Amino acid sequence: MTKLIKNIGQLLQVRDDTSALRGKEMNRLPMMRNAYLVIDNGIISDFGHMQKLPELDAEIIDANGRIVMPTWTDSHTHLVFAASRAGEFVDKINGLTYEQIAKRGGGILNSAKQMAEISEEELYQKSAELLKEVMQYGTGAIEIKSGYGLSLEAELKMLRVIKRLKQNFSIPIKSTFLGAHAVPETYKNNKKAYIDLIINKILPAIAHENLADYIDVFCEKGYFTAEETGQILQAGVSYGLKPKVHVNQFNSIGGVEVAVKHQAVTVDHLEVMTPQDFELLSQSATIATVLPACSFFIDIPYAPVKSMIDKNIAVALATDFNPGSTPSFNMNFVVSLACVKQKLTPEQAINAATLNAAAALELANEMGSISKGKKARLVMLKNFIKDYKEIPYYFATNPVDVYFL
Ligand code: NIG
Ligand code: FE
Repeated sequence: MTKLIKNIGQLLQVRDDTSALRGKEMNRLPMMRNAYLVIDNGIISDFGHMQKLPELDAEIIDANGRIVMPTWTDSHTHLVFAASRAGEFVDKINGLTYEQIAKRGGGILNSAKQMAEISEEELYQKSAELLKEVMQYGTGAIEIKSGYGLSLEAELKMLRVIKRLKQNFSIPIKSTFLGAHAVPETYKNNKKAYIDLIINKILPAIAHENLADYIDVFCEKGYFTAEETGQILQAGVSYGLKPKVHVNQFNSIGGVEVAVKHQAVTVDHLEVMTPQDFELLSQSATIATVLPACSFFIDIPYAPVKSMIDKNIAVALATDFNPGSTPSFNMNFVVSLACVKQKLTPEQAINAATLNAAAALELANEMGSISKGKKARLVMLKNFIKDYKEIPYYFATNPVDVYFL
């Protein structure tokens, strides 16, 4: 099956890179104007200027000047959850902080209560419905975490749902075990016993059913220390799970150091950064994933991502879609926030949400740029978007017209 897209106004992100961009490389968004592109069995087989349009026996799609670009990759989500926490949203409006809500048993523990009660089937149906919606916003690969179960049964339930999503959806889905998201109510006076449960019971069960690609820990005051994080990451690594870690959301407590030591693929959040954290990341292969929609929603500082780029740290943008801190899966809004609040240029933000975001899921060899041989995970944008700068400019809209996979 061959498809030929002709009269593409701007073909964006034309490059052969298969790993994350850094520093000055982030300033360039290579593109071809007035282009055609050929998709052969889901693979980009050719592209070029319209003057050189080949004669092909193919289904022809006329872009009529519209933009074609790689899909977004959303490399950090908690898409599988039982119910919304809109009640806490109202508490927040009335003056409580995210941390105060968590202290009164809201937050992650509230989601864990809801998770204990929902059936696996209902959880799957809700998650599948959300994922369909997410894809319509131009996300062509996604990571989904567990972490609202906080017990053997409920963590496995979440991960089995993610596995079923992997089987039934056409986009790449990566699964992350986040048992160490919070200490559950029943272990509140015995965190060590919960960590033992994670390491000695839950991880072996996950490995047995092959339910996860990555291991995550919420390394934060009141959650898990750097030392505990190291212990859990090491156990995950021994089962073949690579680390992707929640660090430095509210405090820098050594999470970056321990994550880098365990060769984390990414460290995520990073709203609070010390000079030492900058130094560690600039010397490592670990990608810094920043989540500006979380800062927006719970009204906390934005990660200093501009300085990270200046210091040659590889950065990616993701939503953090979850029912507590970020009830949005709109990657276009994330790209706009990165521009408006974090002063990234449109070129830098689009690089961070396409190629670098794919690298954050170890998928940059197969997607994230227009390159012959890569998968044609592409979107064609709506006609009112005439230039790539208008992608973040028309903030909080959905620019996607047609979705190719
Ligand atoms: O990435 N910070 C920890 N975990 C999530 C929020 C989880 C929740 O509030 O449900 C986050 O923001
Ligand atoms: Fe998160």
